[in-house]
Amino acid sequence: MKFKEIEKNIYYCGLNDADRVIFDELIPLEHGTTYNSYLIKGSEKTALIDTMYPPFSEEYLKNLDNNGITNVDYIIANHGEQDHSGTMPALLEKFPNAKIVTNAVCKNNIKEMLLVDEDKFLTIKDSDTLSLGDKTLKFILAPGVHWPDTMFTHLIEDNFLFTCDFLGAHLPFEELYFKNDETLVLSAKRYYAEIMMPFRPMCKKYIAMIKEINPKMILPSHGPLHDSPDFILNLYAEWTFDTPKNLVLVPYVSMYKSVEEMAFYLKEKLENKGINVTCFDVIEDDLGDIAMNLVDAATIILGGSMVLASPHPAIANIAYIANLLKPKAKFASFIGSYGWGGNLFGKLGEILSGLKVQLIEPVLVKGKPKEADYKLLDEMVDTIYNFHKDAGLV
Ligand code: FEO
Repeated sequence: MKFKEIEKNIYYCGLNDADRVIFDELIPLEHGTTYNSYLIKGSEKTALIDTMYPPFSEEYLKNLDNNGITNVDYIIANHGEQDHSGTMPALLEKFPNAKIVTNAVCKNNIKEMLLVDEDKFLTIKDSDTLSLGDKTLKFILAPGVHWPDTMFTHLIEDNFLFTCDFLGAHLPFEELYFKNDETLVLSAKRYYAEIMMPFRPMCKKYIAMIKEINPKMILPSHGPLHDSPDFILNLYAEWTFDTPKNLVLVPYVSMYKSVEEMAFYLKEKLENKGINVTCFDVIEDDLGDIAMNLVDAATIILGGSMVLASPHPAIANIAYIANLLKPKAKFASFIGSYGWGGNLFGKLGEILSGLKVQLIEPVLVKGKPKEADYKLLDEMVDTIYNFHKDAGLV
């Protein structure tokens, strides 16, 4: 495959992985993903920025040969996770004089994960520069998006910013500049929700920093390049904004449709009051869609049946994931149905305890919801409405 030229002497040498269906054995991928790698030929030195996921190493190395790359001086590791660093040992065999250029935290990760010797590294600090001759790389430490070892690389003369996982998307592409905005927005939002949302304060900090840099182009390590950086920066500004939207998210699992009936009742009543509601059957629906709704939701209502006196594992899993992703929601509650008893809400509440949410009185029914239960649901609707109204959302 011929490398795509981004600018004179700057090339895209990454690969699409359109067949991949799950990331980290957790995140469903709608379209697959990409592993972006970039080649910069300076007048004196040649550098690669990030490398390749190991199952694609052979193809990646062959592409370097086919594009006439006979020497690499520097391998820039913006992050140690192996979807970007995994091919580094093979590259060091191919180019024995090359040095891995990275920060101390990333170096230690690569040494531990890939068994690379200390003498193969050139360790940089924040704001250090590296000359390639007529091109200069500046390194900007960016711990927290999403690992402690993450850094950005700024190609100063061209004003290109390589942001590693930050501002990426799991979205394969053929043309360098992906112009289906709707698909890109959804992929980038899903990616933000699943990978970056737990680090929302850090995202805000780096968005402000990148706006100061005002790069001509943002080149992430997954998904399309951004030749109009404001496009992705403005989306991140919206997603990381402290105030949630007028949205109630109701993920539920329902063994005998009682919980589903309650979820749909809440939806209808809340929508009548001008509040948006998304319900997801967590068995049927996609985890990524639930995560995307967590980006915006002001209120989360978890709905669950009881299994063996405990919450159904499918809704416990959503509570666990919501707790990990740290959404900005302000309010939360539970609806549930049981056959013979158990502790549904206590256990879900424990799992969700990392969220800074105000809890709303839950509604638990035996079997099917009855008139008295619907009254309690009406009270929940009123409470949510009042909370949203007081928060200025509706
Ligand atoms: Fe794409 Fe954190 O690796």
